[in-house]
Amino acid sequence: MKSTSYTVALDPSSRWAELVAWGPSGIEDGPSVFSNAGSVHFITEADAAPAEYAPLGLRPFSGADVSVRGGSWWRFDSASHDGDLRLTFVDEVARLRAVLCYRPVPETDVLTRWVEFTNSGASTLEFDRLGSAGVCVPTVSGARLTYLTGQWSQEFTRRSVLLPAGGFRMESRFGVPGHAHVPWLAVQDASGGPAWGVSLEWPGSWEISADVEPSGLTRVRAGRLPSPGPVLLEPGGSLVTPAVALASSVDGLSGLASVWHDYDRVLAGARWQRPRPVLYNSWEATGFDVQGAAQLELAKRAADLGVELFVVDDGWFTGRDDDTGGLGDWTPSEASFDGDFGAFVSSVRELGLEFGLWVEPEAVSPKSELYASHPDWVYRIDGRPATLVRNQLLLDLGLPAVVSFIKSTLDVLLYTYPISYLKWDMNRPPTERGRPGAPLADLDAEHVAGYLSVLDHLRATHPHVTIEACAGGGGRTDLATVARTDVVWPSDNTGPVDRLAIQDGFLLMHAPHLMSSWVTDSPGVFDPRPRSLRFRFVTAMAGVLGIGADLSRWSPEQHAEAASLVSLYKSIRSVIHHGVARVLHGPSAPTAATQYTSEDGDTVVVLAWSTGSLTGAPLVPGRSSRVRLSVGAHASYVDESGARYSGAHLKYAGLPFDWTADHDADVVILRRQGSETGSTKVGEPVG
Ligand code: GLA
Repeated sequence: MKSTSYTVALDPSSRWAELVAWGPSGIEDGPSVFSNAGSVHFITEADAAPAEYAPLGLRPFSGADVSVRGGSWWRFDSASHDGDLRLTFVDEVARLRAVLCYRPVPETDVLTRWVEFTNSGASTLEFDRLGSAGVCVPTVSGARLTYLTGQWSQEFTRRSVLLPAGGFRMESRFGVPGHAHVPWLAVQDASGGPAWGVSLEWPGSWEISADVEPSGLTRVRAGRLPSPGPVLLEPGGSLVTPAVALASSVDGLSGLASVWHDYDRVLAGARWQRPRPVLYNSWEATGFDVQGAAQLELAKRAADLGVELFVVDDGWFTGRDDDTGGLGDWTPSEASFDGDFGAFVSSVRELGLEFGLWVEPEAVSPKSELYASHPDWVYRIDGRPATLVRNQLLLDLGLPAVVSFIKSTLDVLLYTYPISYLKWDMNRPPTERGRPGAPLADLDAEHVAGYLSVLDHLRATHPHVTIEACAGGGGRTDLATVARTDVVWPSDNTGPVDRLAIQDGFLLMHAPHLMSSWVTDSPGVFDPRPRSLRFRFVTAMAGVLGIGADLSRWSPEQHAEAASLVSLYKSIRSVIHHGVARVLHGPSAPTAATQYTSEDGDTVVVLAWSTGSLTGAPLVPGRSSRVRLSVGAHASYVDESGARYSGAHLKYAGLPFDWTADHDADVVILRRQGSETGSTKVGEPVG
C-alpha cells in the first residue's frame, strides 16, 4: 500500500486473528489501540477482542461474520505470505477450512479482503451468514458514520449519523446493490478526524453493519446477503466470498474520497486513460418514440455543438413502442429506421460522431418472442403468478443457456454495426426468486456470476466498446461493476440542483471519470424551476459531460453558448478525469464547488455553482462569496482573465465569486506560476 499499515496478529489462544493497527505507516510501532486492557464479564474473550473474522460459535454476542448451521468453532492452522497474506483456520468437527485472505493494492491506501471456505467433511454445510470481512475502527467514544442513501432519482444522498453505542445496518435484497443504499460506508470518530472506509465488490444483495462496542471501538461487518438463503457448501466443495475493499485516510472524508478515486483508477487499469467522449443521449428528448429521421436531426445538432458520441437509448428495437414490449427481441425496429438500421448508423457516423446503443440484456417482456420461446428462462416459482415490475420479467442468469444467449445477442449487435458504446441497463429486481427443480440454488450468486461473465466477455471480445453501467439510474455502482465498465449513470434525475447533491455523494465513493452527467432541459422532468444553461453545463462537466436535452427546441443563442461550453469542457477534461478531485462544498453551502488539480499541480480547475443568495452588486453592503481552495500556500496562480492570486490567499481567504441573476455558475482555471517554494503539496487539506 502507498502509506498505510494494516497489521494483524493471532490471539494468544490461536482461535482468531485480531487487528493491531490500521492507519498511516508506522502506526503499528507501539501498543495496540485495539486490544482489550480489561477483564471480560458475561461475554467470551472473542466477543471482547478486535477479531478480524469470526464464526458465530466463537463470537456469539458481539457480532460474528459467518454463521454455519450447527455452529462453528475454529482454530488457527497455518499462514502464508506471497504478496497476499493467507491465514488458515480449521474447524475439525464441522470439517470446515476458512482462509482469511488479505491483498494490499499497490500505489493506493486500499487493502482487499475475502475468505475462501472448503468443506472437507461428508455433510453439506449451510451458511446463514456469509460475510467478507469484519474489521475494527479505532473510534474512542462512538462513531460518526457517513453513508449514501436515497431512492430512485435521489441516489447517493450523503448522510451522517452519530452512533454513541449500538448498531447501524444497511442492506439490499434487490439482487443488485439498489437505489436505497450503496455498499459503502465511512467511519470516523464521533469528533471527526481520520476516516476509514469499507466498500463491497459485489453487484448482488448485500449487508453492511457497524456496531459501537461498549469499549467505544467500532466494528464493521460487510458481505453478501444470502438471498434466498442459506448458501450450501457441498462435501469437497469450496466457496469464495466477494472481496471487500478497506480504505483509510488521515485527511477525513475528502482524503478518503481520494483514496477511493485512486482505487477506481487501479480497477480501470489502462482504460482509465481512455478519453470519455462527450455524448448526446436522446432518452429525455424522444422517450420511446425513436424515429431514424428525428434521431438524425438531433445527431446533426449535437455534432454542431462538438458532441463526439450519439447514443440511442431505449425504444430502438422491435416491439418497443412503450415499456410493455420488446425486451429480449434485440433487433432494430424495421419501421423506425426504414428497414435499414445500418444506413442510419452510417449516417450518424458520417457526422463525425461515434455511435452507441442502450440495452437491457437481463430483462424480458412477457409479450416478446424470446419469452414465447423460452418461458423457462425467467425466475419463477411453480404455481405462483409472476409479478411484473415496469411490465417486465427478469432472466435467470444462473442458467448457462441464458448467459450464452446474452453473449451471442450482444456479439451480433457489436459485430454487425460499428457500435463503440453500450449503455447496460437493468430496471427490475427479482421477485419470484426461484428456479423450478433447484429449490436451494444460490440464485443471487449465480446471477452475479452470469452478469460479470458477460461484462468480462464484452471486455475481452469488444475491447474498443465503452460500457456505461446503469440500473434504473444508480442502482448498480459497486466496485465489481466499475471494475468492468467505463462510466456509470448515477441517477435518472438530471434536475440541476438535485444533481449537485447526487454528484456530491457520488464523488465520495467514486472518481469523476466514472460519473456520467447530462445537460437536460430546464424547466425539466425532475425540476420545474428554470436554471441557466451555464449552470446545467457546469454541473454536467463535473464528471463525464453529456447532453440529453431536446436540441430541436434550443435557440441559435443557446446553441452557440452550448458549443463554447463543450469546447471549454474539452480543454479541461483531462484535469477533471485524471487529476485530484475534491468536493469543497456541497449544494447546501451558498456556493457549491468542486476542485480538480492536475497531477503535476500546475492547473487547478474550480467548478462553482450559486446555490444561495446573490452576492454580485447587492442593494446593501455585502461581500463576495468565497471558496477556500486546496492549494499550496507558497505558490501563486493566475486565472484566465489574468487575475493573480497567492496560494495563501486562495487557501485561507478563498477564491471570490460574485453571483448575479445572469451568472449562477462558473468555471475558473488557475495556472500555477513558476515553481512552488514551500513544502505544501497538491491536494492537502483546506484550511
Ligand atoms: C432507465 C434508465 C434511463 C433510461 C430508461 C429507458 O430508467 O435509468 O436512463 O435508459 O431506463 O427505459
